[in-house]
Amino acid sequence: MKNDAKLRIGVLVSGRGSNLQAIIDAVAAGALDAEIAVVVSDKPDAPALRRIEGIPGVVIERGAYPTVEAFDSAIADVLEEHGVELVVLAGFMRVLGPGFVRRFRGRAINIHPSLLPSFPGLRAQRQALLHGVKISGCTVHLVDKTLDGGPILAQTAVPVLSDDTEESLSERILKEEHGLLVETIREIITARYKVHGRQDAAPT
Ligand code: GRF
Repeated sequence: MKNDAKLRIGVLVSGRGSNLQAIIDAVAAGALDAEIAVVVSDKPDAPALRRIEGIPGVVIERGAYPTVEAFDSAIADVLEEHGVELVVLAGFMRVLGPGFVRRFRGRAINIHPSLLPSFPGLRAQRQALLHGVKISGCTVHLVDKTLDGGPILAQTAVPVLSDDTEESLSERILKEEHGLLVETIREIITARYKVHGRQDAAPT
């Protein structure tokens, strides 16, 4: 990573894009020393794409590639072409394979609407309700080749209320996701500066 420039972020989306919006807003407010270099969607009609005024947007559909490996590699190519240093999966509804993980190891994070390792995969809020947990939340973790299983970086707990529906719980968790995701990116940036600070101070 370069230490003389803003961190270049690539955001992967499939849907609504409220987490993408939280990053866009934080960058615009000067709260993140970062730049969104590119947004990649696997869905041409993702509402997230309507939020990216002035940011390069690229659609990469799974159906356009013969294998999942070719699809993953097309995404990684676009991210590299845009000089992306940190990849943020923000509502990206596909699992990226080992080829992608190798190319962005330790540099890709995902936000998930549960307190992992509980309830990985789809409809995590529904899973939480079905199990009757009293506390759920959201997690930001590093992406590895497992489904929502990489090392956990940050979590926020959210109470589950007795009259919660999947919608009401999802909404309460989502509000926390936005802050948690931005805060985690900020911490990644700060750590980068600390590391460079140490390197700069070390004799060569
Ligand atoms: C969020 O709940 C996120 O945790 C999950 O998918 C949802 C995406 O929401 N991975 P949005 O597209 O960011 O609004």
